[in-house]
Amino acid sequence: MASTFELETLNMRLGAADLQPLDLHQRIQRALRALILEGALAPGLKLPASRVLAGSLGVARDTVENAYVHLHRDGFITRREGSGSYVSNTLGPELRGGVQRRPGAGRRRETSPPTAPALSRRGQLILEQGGVSDQQEIRAFAPGLPETRAFPLAVWERLHRQVMKDYRGSVLLHGDPQGAEPLRNAIATYLNLERGAKCSPEQILVLSSTRQALLLCAQLLADAGKPVLMENPGYIGARRAFEAAETRVIPIDVDDHGLRTDLLRADTSGAACLYVTPSHQYPTGATLPLERRLDLINWAAEQRRWIIEDDYDSEFHYDGLPTACVQGLDPYRRTIYLGTFSKTLFPGLRMGYMVLPPELVDAFTRARSIMDGHTPQLLQLTVARFMEDGHYNAHIRAMRKLYRARRTVLLDAVSRHLPGIANALPPPGGLQIPCFLADGWSEERTLRQAASAGIQLLGLSPLYAGTASRPGWLLGYASLTEHEIEAAMRRLAKVLKR
Ligand SMILES: Cc1ncc(COP(=O)(O)O)c(C=O)c1O
Repeated sequence: MASTFELETLNMRLGAADLQPLDLHQRIQRALRALILEGALAPGLKLPASRVLAGSLGVARDTVENAYVHLHRDGFITRREGSGSYVSNTLGPELRGGVQRRPGAGRRRETSPPTAPALSRRGQLILEQGGVSDQQEIRAFAPGLPETRAFPLAVWERLHRQVMKDYRGSVLLHGDPQGAEPLRNAIATYLNLERGAKCSPEQILVLSSTRQALLLCAQLLADAGKPVLMENPGYIGARRAFEAAETRVIPIDVDDHGLRTDLLRADTSGAACLYVTPSHQYPTGATLPLERRLDLINWAAEQRRWIIEDDYDSEFHYDGLPTACVQGLDPYRRTIYLGTFSKTLFPGLRMGYMVLPPELVDAFTRARSIMDGHTPQLLQLTVARFMEDGHYNAHIRAMRKLYRARRTVLLDAVSRHLPGIANALPPPGGLQIPCFLADGWSEERTLRQAASAGIQLLGLSPLYAGTASRPGWLLGYASLTEHEIEAAMRRLAKVLKR
């Protein structure tokens, strides 16, 4: 450690580019502070008197004095009347050694380069799982993306401006962690009318996404190491949320009609909750028949379990009306309903919601207040206006028509271009179609071939716990024009047949 003060070292540091925009006294203060933190100026070292240092640097004494005053106030130096200024002895090694060594900064305490912070076991797990990757551009055949190019932006902008004008400064303040009242009213009205739910605005919690809702469920409903049930195959975001909370995910298989409720009865794990997509099973597209819905509700009531119903894209049903949600059928209030605006509006909005049984509202609202406080007020109120003024239902109707036509084009393109390779199962709704590979075709290889032609395919295998019973892809089509679907499918067929 340096036992003397070296002017040259200080001068070098004063020349650093990041200090140049600052006032002279600030530059001296920052330079000295950096040298102290790096250990180049050791604890207890006497600093030159301000008059002496000012003379050496060719600056006014007040300038150095000002820097010393600030360093003293912040605890980096001590000053003794009549004795001088000293580097503080009380700075812990974690502070002193914390800045990476820079070449040419003179003699200093040897510091090792900073290492990655040690993660908790949970942190390590989250890192290893790799998170969830979202599609950030429109690309054939990335699943889950709605049409965004035809979104009524002019209407949205008008409503946004209206909200600013009507609510003025209040939207700039913090909002209710449970969500803005007008939006909770609009969501409850919509769900009760359109999704057959039975809920009041007091049961709605507005969030940034379904994924945030899942994380809250994982944290509040199951302890670390305890089991949770999840349909298999299933949404990777749900699995990641449960794993991130260190719960034990137990898969419950689905068949052509969705979740096998008979397997629920056979489960003896004592899991507190079950994640399920009854309206449009992800990824198979199956709709859970009424019989199984009732079975599910009875199972939850008898065994006092929570049903987490993810109703992510059920608005888009093309053959008849969408089935009513489980939440509305459940008289025992064991269902937690999750909805998102990512599909019905646009994913960049980052807004979703939950319908909670009344006894859970407080706990979930408090937990969310810790996470991120609340969802941006301006956006919530704009969505509320969009819904109140009828634009939401109109947009869904328009998109349903558009997607139905695109689904037909995709199904037709698969059967014309990929005979003997893949077989698409037309689901009754949604934004994507599961496509199963014929014998002899490898999922992994086809994904690689497609990528080489600029086509993005999501393999079905990662969506299974264990081995996929039927390898294939999940083909997204809702964000692509009919022409784009046809052109991309032709390209895909060409590269696969090569
Ligand atoms: C089954 C399912 N649930 C939820 C979501 C995500 O919704 P959010 O964007 O609100 O997190 C997705 C996204 O693709 C999904 O496929």
